[in-house]
Amino acid sequence: MAKKFLPVRVHGFDVLIEKQGFRSGDNILVSGGTGTGKTTFCMNSLINSAKEGEKCLYLTFEESAEKIRENLEDNYEWGIPQLEKQKKLVIVERDAMRIARVVEVALKKNSNKKITDDKTFDFDFKPDRIVVDSLSALSIAFSNDEEGYRRYLKHLFDQMAGFNSVNLIITETTQNPEIYSREGIEEFLADGVIVLYNVKSKSGQRYNALEILKLRSSAHVKKLVPYKLMGKQGFVVMPKATLFADDE
Ligand SMILES: Nc1ncnc2c1ncn2[C@@H]1O[C@H](COP(=O)(O)OP(=O)(O)OP(=O)(O)O)[C@@H](O)[C@H]1O
Ligand SMILES: [Mg+2]
Repeated sequence: MAKKFLPVRVHGFDVLIEKQGFRSGDNILVSGGTGTGKTTFCMNSLINSAKEGEKCLYLTFEESAEKIRENLEDNYEWGIPQLEKQKKLVIVERDAMRIARVVEVALKKNSNKKITDDKTFDFDFKPDRIVVDSLSALSIAFSNDEEGYRRYLKHLFDQMAGFNSVNLIITETTQNPEIYSREGIEEFLADGVIVLYNVKSKSGQRYNALEILKLRSSAHVKKLVPYKLMGKQGFVVMPKATLFADDE
């Protein structure tokens, strides 16, 4: 399948990447601590892409579709309901516990251990963009079943790559992470890792900054870049700003 580079379309982000976006078919982890803006970053990318006519899919294993819609629309007024009506944006909940059970059964009875009936991507359209929110919720559902979680992860990543879409996969970390996912295997499977930080200055003020930790497809900026979550625009990256610049 022909690969192309698609802009991420989060304000100020694409200039951090030499090729000005992510490569289609690639799986990119968006990692960060709680409340750092993972959901906002990913939905912002989908909304701006849906407005350009792309088909965007948001898969949630965590918050309900209703809650995501409500929280983001109340804050940013992006026009989510209209985009959903036009079928450019589809927000769907998937039951992580059910998937974990299906995978467990599949691994018990299949000699080739192929997962076929998890129905994660049971859709009648081919998405240009996919967001998965989040691997952490999935991993909790698999609890002690390491083998099941790994198999499903590989299956999920392979399926997404097969759509030739740009795929953003959210993982929760501690606030100052050293590993960016449950066991670290996710970041090896991924073609890129974006990390969102919530850092404290000397005066105790908290700031947000992001880092492109890895990107197999392109050269990119390799430093912490400040960002803010702000009314209407949503996720705004500030490539020229200095971290802690306005700290007293
Ligand atoms: N209108 C707004 N303006 C500025 N910041 C906002 C606004 N609304 C929410 N926020 C910030 O966004 C954060 C939540 O963003 P988001 O839900 O994207 O984070 P997350 O990393 O996905 O969180 P979680 O770990 O709970 O899934 C809040 O903690 C708050 O600081
Ligand atoms: Mg979230």
